[in-house]
Amino acid sequence: ANQLGSKKERTLAMVKPDAVSKLGDILEMLHAANLTVTKAKMTKLTWSQAADFYKEHQSKPFYSNLVQFMSSGPVVAMELMGDEAIVAWRRLLGPTDSAVARREAQHSVRACFGTDGVQNAGHGSDSIAAAAREVEFFFPSTGSHGPANTAQYTEC
Ligand code: TYD
Ligand code: MG
Repeated sequence: ANQLGSKKERTLAMVKPDAVSKLGDILEMLHAANLTVTKAKMTKLTWSQAADFYKEHQSKPFYSNLVQFMSSGPVVAMELMGDEAIVAWRRLLGPTDSAVARREAQHSVRACFGTDGVQNAGHGSDSIAAAAREVEFFFPSTGSHGPANTAQYTEC
């Protein structure tokens, strides 16, 4: 905890295929919420990559629909850093169902850019353990070649 009692955390944010065209608006919302983008990648998940990412939901009735949607087009994955970043990003996302978000969280990402309970614009890790796994999923720390995917940020 810092002097104000808040915790610097990282989390994994993903802009889902239905909202990639709204990336600029979402970056503005992240900036306004004091969340910093420390890694970013646009990629198209294969069916099996999407299935792996969401494997905690494999027994749910919506799983195959979810995996189909998540592999239907490009996504943008970002590591975010900030005070209580995990809950801060989930609050900015809003409720899982975009229709509920429009009723209860009008300025959220899902209210503004989501469609329904499946096509809901974004993903956010729900715990420190999930954030660690999901950041590693998109930005593996070993076995990668080419430029490093970590940058240093300073206040401007
Ligand atoms: P979940 O982890 O419950 O929601 P969140 O994304 O808010 O953490 O579910 C993962 C995704 O699965 C969700 O973003 C959209 C999809 N989903 C459905 O398609 N139908 C459903 O009934 C639920 C609960 C989720
Ligand atoms: Mg979830």
